[in-house]
Amino acid sequence: MLLSVENLRIGFGPLEPLVGVDLGVDKGEILGLVGESGSGKSMTAMSVMGLLPLMGGRIKQGRIVFDGTDLTGLGEKAYRKLRGGRIALITQNPMTSLDPVVRVGRQIDQTAELHLGLSRKAAKARTIELMDRMRIPAPQHTYEQFPHQLSGGLRQRIVIAMALAGDPDLLIADEPTTALDVTVQAQIIQLLVELVRDRGLGLVLITHDMGVIAQTCDRVAVMYCGRVVEYGPVATIFDDPRHPYTKALISCIPQVGMAPGSLTGIPGMVPSARDMPPGCRFNPRCDSVMDICRAREPQINTEAGRSVACFLYAGDRP
Ligand SMILES: Nc1ncnc2c1ncn2[C@@H]1O[C@H](COP(=O)(O)OP(=O)(O)OP(=O)(O)O)[C@@H](O)[C@H]1O
Ligand SMILES: [Mg+2]
Repeated sequence: MLLSVENLRIGFGPLEPLVGVDLGVDKGEILGLVGESGSGKSMTAMSVMGLLPLMGGRIKQGRIVFDGTDLTGLGEKAYRKLRGGRIALITQNPMTSLDPVVRVGRQIDQTAELHLGLSRKAAKARTIELMDRMRIPAPQHTYEQFPHQLSGGLRQRIVIAMALAGDPDLLIADEPTTALDVTVQAQIIQLLVELVRDRGLGLVLITHDMGVIAQTCDRVAVMYCGRVVEYGPVATIFDDPRHPYTKALISCIPQVGMAPGSLTGIPGMVPSARDMPPGCRFNPRCDSVMDICRAREPQINTEAGRSVACFLYAGDRP
């Protein structure tokens, strides 16, 4: 595995946004991370990027193994080399990753200069090539533009080019297309998929969209309230979802020919971090809830390459 997260638990004071997350991604593979708002997808990304301390959080338990090295003990100085170098992050809002007063081309150059030690001239040549690869029209011209002069879709392509400029092995894309219109969304996802296939990158794709997961990912980790509740190959999980939460998410994917307005969310609300229900965190919303689900928290069980944390499928079923 290029990256494996093992039993990760993180804390912000008394709050624990992640309580035992396990997942992995290999080179040339796309792992989808899905779940409703607040499930811990971004926190997982922040943990891998080593950004928790800067946000006031910390790792309480578990390991984050990247290319054979546990990153959990790594200091900020070592992490700074890794970030933007071997591991890159793309976020939802490209403006947060871009400097408004620096020409976009230079911003890509700077990543290559910093992480690959290229000269300014070599970096520029590489930037133009990368921009071309991102299908940015007229790269020579766009190179000179400032972020505010570009459309949202172009800005996100610049951010992806910047993420690639350090020649990373692992890319984490945290809802990279949420802010974009549907056509542009599809183009950006397509670009990311090509990068994985052509360059052998490992990609963690964070999204709310089960449809995107089904179409693009190799494996999926379904998160709910700081846990991975189901994990496995996309084909397996979509053919035969086990966790009631996964089933609910899949049933919310809009189908072709569905009447407008018939789109429904999952009934009930995600509990707040301060008010977690005892037992399985999904039990108040689960249509298959049993007594034990209110009493005990199900462990994640792995069987035949897939994992699920649910008493319906637990070895220790009552
Ligand atoms: N800076 C922070 N300090 C403390 N807790 C936080 C912070 N940011 C988020 N949280 C909490 O961590 C939990 C997980 O949040 P996270 O942002 O990872 O969710 P998410 O799955 O990315 O949601 P979304 O789909 O809305 O982006 C939530 O309970 C949230 O309230
Ligand atoms: Mg998020």
